[in-house]
Amino acid sequence: MKPSVLVTRAIYPEVIAHLAQYFDVDDNQQDAVLDAAALKARLAGKAGVLANAADRIDGDVVAGLPALRAVCNMAVGYNNLDVPALTAAGIVATNTPDVLTETTADFGWALLMATARRVTEAEHYLRAGKWQRWSYDMLVGMDLYGSTLGILGMGRIGQALARRASGFGMSVLYHNRSQLPADTERALSARYVSKEDLLRQSDHLLLVLPYGPQSHHAIGAAELALMKPTATLVNLARGGIVDDAALAQALRDKRIFGAGLDVFEGEPSVNPDLLTVPNVVLTPHIASASEKTRRAMAMLAADNLIAALDQGPQAGHPPTVINPDVMSRRR
Ligand code: DGY
Repeated sequence: MKPSVLVTRAIYPEVIAHLAQYFDVDDNQQDAVLDAAALKARLAGKAGVLANAADRIDGDVVAGLPALRAVCNMAVGYNNLDVPALTAAGIVATNTPDVLTETTADFGWALLMATARRVTEAEHYLRAGKWQRWSYDMLVGMDLYGSTLGILGMGRIGQALARRASGFGMSVLYHNRSQLPADTERALSARYVSKEDLLRQSDHLLLVLPYGPQSHHAIGAAELALMKPTATLVNLARGGIVDDAALAQALRDKRIFGAGLDVFEGEPSVNPDLLTVPNVVLTPHIASASEKTRRAMAMLAADNLIAALDQGPQAGHPPTVINPDVMSRRR
């Protein structure tokens, strides 16, 4: 008998077919959102699960599910998983790094440009029939070319963003938990500074750090107060890194010029104050959403699940494992 696995949300049919070579697949192609109780009920008797960043999988969810051996996230971020609880329960956790790096960085650039040059505000203005005549200061924005780009969180996506900056003649500053090796800094033309200096000196600040208790509200009223009134802020990382209420206030008060947000505290809910300020570009957590990349993420999550459950050509060696100790304990 094949082991059973759950796929929590609708996914590409070829991914279901790929998994079905090794497993009995309980899919959710009708795409019902499973709350914690429904998720736990569907996980009963399953050996593994292909989840996504909106599925919270913690110690309570996995308690009393002795068959469960693998939780495979279709996302690079895994703050939705309680990794220590999964590790303690002997459950392998995996994510999908690398395959989304360039697509996410492209989108970060799109959000940055839309914010600095007021693209969505301009479109709303035009659609509302307000464009009646030319004026010298209509919808003027901030330049990217020749400006200073700040990056908070210099992992793979931060570095991909820094590479894009060279085409725009930008100076790149960054702050990270640890400073990059000198040759990497040189290759990126990026300079390490303190978080305060980053906030004070950046013309455009991109947030790409992982979310956790240490980064909760890493950008709140005090940090926003340090930024230039002409600066823009883009959050590509996770909701909760920015205090959305404080940001809405700073935007309303023109404490900073504008913001671009792909992620929100408590998403898919959005702080209502953000919906009423004009100088913010809002998108529904789509930074990795290109055709090619979403397929690659889904296939990588599936390959992780197959390997973590000791099937397929990479049996026992999931390509992108978060808690490798669990795999080695099994061997
Ligand atoms: C990720 O992969 O972490 C993206 O934010 C999608 O959830």
